[in-house]
Amino acid sequence: MHTDKLVDEKSVSIAAKLLEQGELVAVPTETVYGLAADARQPHAVAKIFAAKGRPADHPLIVHIAHASKLSDWAKTVPDTALLLAEAFWPGPLTLILEKQETVSDVVTGGHPSVGLRCPAHPLMLALLNELDTGLAAPSANPYKKISPTTAEQVLFGLSGKIAAVLDGGPCEVGLESTIVDLTSSTPRILRAGPISKTQIESVLGVPVDMPKKHNVAVSGNVKAHYQPNKPLYAFSTADLQSRLLSAGENTAVLYFNESLNEAISHTKVVSLKLADNKADYAKGLYYGLFTLDQAEVTEIWLELPPANDEWADVQDRLSRAVTELS
Ligand code: TXA
Ligand code: MG
Repeated sequence: MHTDKLVDEKSVSIAAKLLEQGELVAVPTETVYGLAADARQPHAVAKIFAAKGRPADHPLIVHIAHASKLSDWAKTVPDTALLLAEAFWPGPLTLILEKQETVSDVVTGGHPSVGLRCPAHPLMLALLNELDTGLAAPSANPYKKISPTTAEQVLFGLSGKIAAVLDGGPCEVGLESTIVDLTSSTPRILRAGPISKTQIESVLGVPVDMPKKHNVAVSGNVKAHYQPNKPLYAFSTADLQSRLLSAGENTAVLYFNESLNEAISHTKVVSLKLADNKADYAKGLYYGLFTLDQAEVTEIWLELPPANDEWADVQDRLSRAVTELS
């Protein structure tokens, strides 16, 4: 199959036609690119699992145009869902709610609940409005690989397996949405993300659970995930500084601390510097890992970012991306 890159003003209509015909189209969102199919066409949704190599019991998020569509997919819409949607949609927050009977088990991986999100990207919103259905879409990467934040990166992983990619430029946020489960009396964060626990608690006015141990039934929560092909080793700033003394040109370094500039300038490593504030670091992280994975090196060294709550989403993704040092 040839994969088209849709870049002009007709792109949204072309993408809509392809999706109506049951084809797969990769779509831009503010977090990462998604691999979309019409959530009302189980045969189309099944193609997502084949293209990604993703296990069939890992549920997909249904992307919707507006909070008013929640009741098309959720059996009941609790006040907590409306409050969170009002505060953060369109935006990087996914709500898990009990599903309507009409929602296919192919979408939910057989789970009784469904993940719903209204994404903040103008092309994606235009597409959703044109379609008047929901789009089931996981991140547009082969299973366990790094989530793509550009159309080119989508093509690198999935070219030939999908009908098209709608090019919406680089993703603004760069890390996957926060997932909140609202199916039980206490809201639970299933995946840390750009909307923090504190932000959610301040809107709901109640404490929210954030289990340290993640549920493996949730695909983004398997231990090895978001992985580059090359081994990725993580070090504190001080450890990285001393290791740089013996680093050769077969090493790539992904760092953020200005204090390492000097040491790096005395080496032949391939290096890429991320921002030292969380939002910009997150925006550049997957792109940086992807770029260094393509470089002529045999391993990647990463400077560990701060281990505080503000960096919880970055820490979570890195803990899965890093190669086990055993
Ligand atoms: O930012 C994002 O969330 C991106 C963009 C494309 O929207 N999507 C994304 O999808 O990261 P994916 O499939 O790579 O990760 C979605 C996560 C998975 O870990 C999945 O298991 C979980 O959401 N999920 C979806 N529906 C669920 C449900 N009913 N119950 C529990 N977890 C669910
Ligand atoms: Mg994913």
